[in-house]
Amino acid sequence: MTADVDELVPYGGVRADAAWADEVRRLAADRDAVLLAHNYQLPEIQEVADHTGDSLALSRIAAASDASTIVFCGVHFMAETAKILAPEKTVLIPDARAGCSLADSITAEQLREWKAQHPGAVVVSYVNTTAEVKAETDICCTSSNAVDVVASVPAGREVLFCPDQFLGAHVKRETGRENLHIWAGECHVHAGINGPELAERAAADPDADLFIHPECGCATSALYLAGEGAVPEDKVKILSTGDMLTAARDTRAESVLVATEVGMLHQLRKAAPEIDFRAVNDRASCRYMKMITPAALLRSLTGGVDEVDVDPDTAARARDSVRRMVEIGTPGGGE
Ligand code: 13P
Ligand code: SF4
Repeated sequence: MTADVDELVPYGGVRADAAWADEVRRLAADRDAVLLAHNYQLPEIQEVADHTGDSLALSRIAAASDASTIVFCGVHFMAETAKILAPEKTVLIPDARAGCSLADSITAEQLREWKAQHPGAVVVSYVNTTAEVKAETDICCTSSNAVDVVASVPAGREVLFCPDQFLGAHVKRETGRENLHIWAGECHVHAGINGPELAERAAADPDADLFIHPECGCATSALYLAGEGAVPEDKVKILSTGDMLTAARDTRAESVLVATEVGMLHQLRKAAPEIDFRAVNDRASCRYMKMITPAALLRSLTGGVDEVDVDPDTAARARDSVRRMVEIGTPGGGE
């Protein structure tokens, strides 16, 4: 375990060595638990998990799993989504304090007020939302199927898209839809990956591919650079974290500039060890994702904590919108 990780351990230091990994697997087997880890998790957590993936892939795996317990190594809304899809299962998150600044950028109350201003509009919410917001939503989406989800709404219907403004701008560009209204929320980690920083890094490495998560503040700048001819258009790829892995296996580039949370570099380097992957902003680390430490995972499996519950009425109202999300778009994005 690195010194950085030690500093973050909220429940006391635990060395993520082979004995720790064996103990995690033994405790998981005793609980009939499947371990899921998002692509932004610490490398040690990704390595010990049964499955890693993007938000959509992990939701699909959670829904299909026959384990009686799901241990979600990710942030709270992801574990809530698993509970909504599989209410009969026990869902644990190793640290319930692992929130999400993007999910916090809209409340159910605010969404109800927005809906009242646009009667008849279809609400499409990013999966990075609370269960209460999902309960007010018609269709949820993730970064890998947002365009397909919005395209599935009849052209004449207004769409309210929340909460991420940068993903919303990407969807609007891709679908060419004028009747799409976008909530002005953002993720503090991705918003901090900015255009000037990307332009500088791309100029220093003109042959590199650019893999850009659509939540990033720099996604629009990247397309602008491509439009201006500053970066070849075919080198700019706006991708979910799962789709970045597919693109890594397919590209012929020798180096790739990656604009997303830095945890993603671990899976990318595993998928294509011959490529030089570099973060556009190496300070883009999500402190919520990094709360799932080796110590927290051990504590979770030992004590059966922190259990995630969603009020049954809210879950029932949220389930249809989450099910539609899981059904739309191509499978993939996880392993
Ligand atoms: P994806 O894994 O769906 O691309 O989402 C990224 C993210 O920010 C999750 O919090
Ligand atoms: Fe939320 Fe941003 Fe962290 Fe993803 S990276 S969990 S969107 S705060």
